[in-house]
Amino acid sequence: MKERNLVLIGFMGTGKSTVGRLCARKLHREFMDSDEHIERREGCSVADLFVSRGEAVFREIERNVIRDLSAGTGRVIATGGGAVIDPENVAALRKSGWTVWLRAMPDAIIARVGNGQSRPLLAGNSQPLLRIEEMLRQRMAGYEQASDHQINTDRMMPDEIAEKIIREFLK
Ligand code: S3P
Repeated sequence: MKERNLVLIGFMGTGKSTVGRLCARKLHREFMDSDEHIERREGCSVADLFVSRGEAVFREIERNVIRDLSAGTGRVIATGGGAVIDPENVAALRKSGWTVWLRAMPDAIIARVGNGQSRPLLAGNSQPLLRIEEMLRQRMAGYEQASDHQINTDRMMPDEIAEKIIREFLK
């Protein structure tokens, strides 16, 4: 039988890439991060892509990358925080494997993303906490729909989170 992918979803700053990398190492699997693939494909950073071509173009590229990553098997995949906005992404990811939603409180998120300079949807915002709360509210249903499992990452170290995910994934 083909090996289902392990897919990490969740808001910015919830540790998807760090935890994903750890899970991949522990499971001896290939790690794939959708934002990294977008950057490699386009030859520029996600932040620059937003500035030069806008969010709609970024979302279109993100959809193509997620379709490609979901088509493989036996992978650990980390997605960008906004991937669940698009029902096509949700369907592809769910079909490809087991999806875990990494959750965190807005104050933990802000502590992790700092001034958000590499996050175009937060950069330059004078009230980032309010913006994060608003975006979380808008995306909550998408994360719920897209996830087979959820983990609250507040006060947990990446290694602990990875161990917990793997325990559930291998059940
Ligand atoms: C985004 C999150 C980012 C990146 C882009 C848009 C979002 O990924 O895909 O800036 O819409 O929440 P991370 O969740 O890895 O920061």
